[in-house]
Amino acid sequence: MPDSAPRRSLPIIGQAGGGRSRATCRLRCGDACFHEAPNTSANPYFGDIFSAMVSRRNALRAGAVGAGATAGFAALGGLAAPASAKPGKGWGNPRLRFEGLPPGHSDAVEVPEGYEQEVVISWGDPVLPDAPEFDFDNQTPEAQAKQFGYNCDYVGFLPLDRGHGHGYGHGKGRGRGHRPKRALLYVNHEYTNENLMFRGYSDDTATEEQMRTAIEAHGGSVVEIERVGRSGRWKVAGGERRFNRRITGTTPFELTGPAAGDELLRTEADPSGTEVLGMLNNCSGGTTPWGTFLSGEENFNQYFVNADSAPEDVREKLARYGMRGGEEGRRWNRVDERFDLSKNPNEANRFGWVVEIDPTDPDAKPRKRTMLGRFKHEAANPRITEDGRVAVYMGDDERFDYMYKFVSTKRVRWGSARHNATLLDSGTLYVAKLSGNSPAEEFDGSGELPSDGAFDGVGEWMALCTDTESFVEGMSVAEVLVYTRIAADKAGATKMDRPEDFEPNPVTGKVYCALTNNSAREPGQADEPNPRGPNKHGHILEITEAGNDSGATEFTWDVPIVCGDPDDESTYFAGFDKSKVASISSPDNLTFDEHGNLWISTDGQGKLEINDALHAVPMHGKYKGELKTFATVPVGAECCGPLITEDQKTVFIAPQHPGDGGTAEDPQSTWPYGDFPRPSVVSIWHSRGKDIGS
Ligand code: FEO
Ligand code: CA
Ligand code: CA
Repeated sequence: MPDSAPRRSLPIIGQAGGGRSRATCRLRCGDACFHEAPNTSANPYFGDIFSAMVSRRNALRAGAVGAGATAGFAALGGLAAPASAKPGKGWGNPRLRFEGLPPGHSDAVEVPEGYEQEVVISWGDPVLPDAPEFDFDNQTPEAQAKQFGYNCDYVGFLPLDRGHGHGYGHGKGRGRGHRPKRALLYVNHEYTNENLMFRGYSDDTATEEQMRTAIEAHGGSVVEIERVGRSGRWKVAGGERRFNRRITGTTPFELTGPAAGDELLRTEADPSGTEVLGMLNNCSGGTTPWGTFLSGEENFNQYFVNADSAPEDVREKLARYGMRGGEEGRRWNRVDERFDLSKNPNEANRFGWVVEIDPTDPDAKPRKRTMLGRFKHEAANPRITEDGRVAVYMGDDERFDYMYKFVSTKRVRWGSARHNATLLDSGTLYVAKLSGNSPAEEFDGSGELPSDGAFDGVGEWMALCTDTESFVEGMSVAEVLVYTRIAADKAGATKMDRPEDFEPNPVTGKVYCALTNNSAREPGQADEPNPRGPNKHGHILEITEAGNDSGATEFTWDVPIVCGDPDDESTYFAGFDKSKVASISSPDNLTFDEHGNLWISTDGQGKLEINDALHAVPMHGKYKGELKTFATVPVGAECCGPLITEDQKTVFIAPQHPGDGGTAEDPQSTWPYGDFPRPSVVSIWHSRGKDIGS
């Protein structure tokens, strides 16, 4: 960390249980952690032991390891997602070769010695060619609809100069030696912090102009960027920028898949049930092997009011999705009646989906893929199955909610955008049920390792429905997809500690899920996959699919990382010497480098009184568990992104809500330009052109 870095202590006054300010809790999640958890199902906290599976556990394990080096690699050779590395270089003993940062307290992005960082684009910067320059005191919805939106989250990257559009043929002829000069950056704009956007703002006195501006500041951006020389540094591209696009809270979307057109999705304004205006609260996402971006609509519930006056028969379903109250929060119903559930109870059913965006076709309607189910989607990350279909892993970020997987019916066809655009509309939707292999009484919520030395066990992907058949009694296919949480309750899924991002490891094929935290888990509700109650700092779950095949319906699992201050006895870093690892709390978004090191961004390290950060940790070999801090983000921000380019020369992060908890008059951060906080995307590169982390 540079000695000259400005130091400001992290404001912890007014901080909420999640390590964020009350303002963020209200604006981002609709105060999810302050309400009763919406999952009131009787599903067990400790899944029933599948005795048959337990007896097969060792066999599965052995199979997985054997497959990892052979069949697993074949599958991964097909993946070649632009967001991650090409197939791994082998198992080996990867080690991160940078000096880990001390905990962050500054109002800046800090990076290790030898690295440099720079803002690529900030809230308000022009995206469309005719966008006006940003004017903080004269914001309009028309201007915002053409400018970079607020609170950037997921970052996707698609090289432009290795062939794009319909010829985009991932998995063929790509190599890290190729360094694209131009690329498309895709960024989600999860939500707005009106207190920081507008002087003197209050929900009660919000003007129509402010509300409409906030709606336009949601959504996503596609931005052409270009490399600076041969470095890992990227800047907004000059020239035509014909792919640049803003997607907002009013952009038309097509609903596709089995539930599209169902009466549950029809409204007075859209009797077809196939066209929705806008996407909301898009948190993280993923990049498909065929070159599109997936984006998860997360805490959409908070935008809807008057659930308590909705028709009697839908109130319980609304409540399962966190919609219970009268008028609260932003109350956009004042400018658009569709947000009023007493008048438009079906409108809420049109949010909470995974969206697929083709960034190479700026005129195409983005698609909400109903086959992937409806819940608070954090992200959606694909992996190719042994037989060439696509599996998509998804978490429902709610206390005590579930982990899901979709597996397509059709195979990916390399180079055929038209065919691949249909992949996410037919297949099977699964929810996870986990069982531990240690006696239940060994879990008292303290996080102490059980006597067999590992939090581990077996799991099953339970099919909820295909595109033509429901496996949930009393629910049609459309009902399973629209009320996926209720279907999963009935199936007896395992209640998890807020499943966030999923990510497959390009070297080993194992799949990882960030379980960010769960303030509400009682000690008596602790179980082997969620061993702490309360779970203040979260943990990482590792899944090994049977045969290392993402098409499998059985898996083994373990918990390699239990987060927190390493001095805290309840933490665990894969058995690595805890005196040599960094503190981490509330893991959120995940990515991998080509060596199989896991990169973890956090949302809630305020609980440790340190700024949020990007950490990295080897996930196999003798340095497994050696967690180091690679970047820290400004005061009040969470560290979204992260993304490592395929050539391993750049990391993108997206510090979200800097100055969280402050107001426009009294900002607690002035990052990045010294005046008022602006959520921004940042690139980080090695000053001498070395690979990131190596
Ligand atoms: Fe938007 Fe689950 O974090
Ligand atoms: Ca165990
Ligand atoms: Ca997140």
